[in-house]
Amino acid sequence: MTQVFGVIGDPIGHTLSPLMHTSAYRDTGISASYVSFNVKQENLEDAVKGIRGLGINGVNVTVPHKIEVMKYVDELDETAKRIGAVNTIVNDKKQNKLIGYNTDGEGYLRSLQSRLRKPFRETRVLLIGAGGAGRAVAVTLAHKGVKQLTIANRTVASAEALAEDCGGETRALSLGTAQASLMEFDVVINSTSVGMAPGTGQMPISLEKLASRTLVSDLIYNPWKTRFLKEADKKGAETLNGVGMFVHQGALSFELWTGVQAPVKIMERTVTEKLR
Ligand code: ATR
Repeated sequence: MTQVFGVIGDPIGHTLSPLMHTSAYRDTGISASYVSFNVKQENLEDAVKGIRGLGINGVNVTVPHKIEVMKYVDELDETAKRIGAVNTIVNDKKQNKLIGYNTDGEGYLRSLQSRLRKPFRETRVLLIGAGGAGRAVAVTLAHKGVKQLTIANRTVASAEALAEDCGGETRALSLGTAQASLMEFDVVINSTSVGMAPGTGQMPISLEKLASRTLVSDLIYNPWKTRFLKEADKKGAETLNGVGMFVHQGALSFELWTGVQAPVKIMERTVTEKLR
């Protein structure tokens, strides 16, 4: 029987998830469809009930529902609990349970790992931003034992709260202090929405003090190269955009749903061809 997957969010029009997942079904010979569902907040509970009611096999959950949806699933896996958000629901029909997972942080880590110059446990990271996307990345990096994690945010209190949740040695800074101490870090990640289309041209912090050995990463992939990454290029630094995170979070969802290894290269090529 054809399986049905999808994504629920609001707005949902621009998502590349259907294209990406469909390319994976084609490549692996899985008979499935992937549908975008525009779900208003007041209909979220009904939408989640509808997964079970209609026998939908699984959905991704995106902005703005990742936190609220936790209330409506039957079970949360450890990672979703740790991050405090769900981006993937599995309809486990044998157990008659909807289970919430989060693949965002691990997806980012996978995209980052191949680009690191030092072992992960020796890497010092500056994360800019403490919103939803930043939280998934911060909690994952801290849990996996990065050497040092520093979180900088416009609203310092949010960076402090997130650092507290990450535990260990995680520090919080203002954007200005982070900017002045840029040379301390091996990896600098922008998780804020600053630089996202259509308001491109903005930078979350200046990269004037950047060392060329630093890897500069942006979770944004539209535009493909934000001004933040272009300025990093000019400093001779390596850059990583957000497309790898998008592909890997989707690949991990695919694997949770199907039990089949995701064709990551095909998924990445599909998304890249569309965006570049
Ligand atoms: P997302 O789910 O994409 O992470 P979010 O949860 O709304 O979105 O978080 C947005 C992040 O971008 C926050 O860290 C926010 O900083 P504040 O906590 O101070 O609001 C950051 N951000 C948004 N606009 C910004 C701007 N103009 N300058 C600096 N930071 C900004």
